[in-house]
Amino acid sequence: MKQPYPRPTKYKLSVHKSVAGFGLFADQSIPKKKFVIEYWGKIVTDKEAEKIVGKYLFQVENGHTIAGGNRKNIARYINHSCRPNCEATMDGDRVFISSIKNIKPGDELTYNYGKEYFDYHIKPHGCRCVKCTK
Ligand SMILES: C[S@@+](CC[C@H](N)C(=O)[O-])C[C@H]1O[C@@H](n2cnc3c(N)ncnc32)[C@H](O)[C@@H]1O
Ligand SMILES: [Zn+2]
Repeated sequence: MKQPYPRPTKYKLSVHKSVAGFGLFADQSIPKKKFVIEYWGKIVTDKEAEKIVGKYLFQVENGHTIAGGNRKNIARYINHSCRPNCEATMDGDRVFISSIKNIKPGDELTYNYGKEYFDYHIKPHGCRCVKCTK
């Protein structure tokens, strides 16, 4: 049977102001090791992605990038943390965000963006995650 795209979340999440622009927050508890939300968007080649201005790009496999700028892709609001409570897993052109800790209502969802994105987009301005600002 064909699975829905994007895979729906079963958790209530909301977008609020955070330390680095907007962020995505849990409105309810999320246990460790659960699928939380899919990062989705138009699949473009890495070359096409170079022409897209903005921060909502997720490089996946085989020379592809997800252009995640659609506002309905609320996973695009998840900020980076050096001590994250989620992780992003790639499966071909798809990216699934799962919890790696027990998450409490009101907690901001975060994952580690990886060295390449971090060095290019975060490091020059300073990381504002909880670990780096404590
Ligand atoms: C995918 S967006 C995340 C959502 C973004 N905060 C917003 O308001 O749309 C990634 C961008 O958010 C900012 N950002 C995310 N995590 C950050 C962090 N730990 N420290 C500083 N800036 C961060 C950077 O500008 C980065 O390029
Ligand atoms: Zn940090």
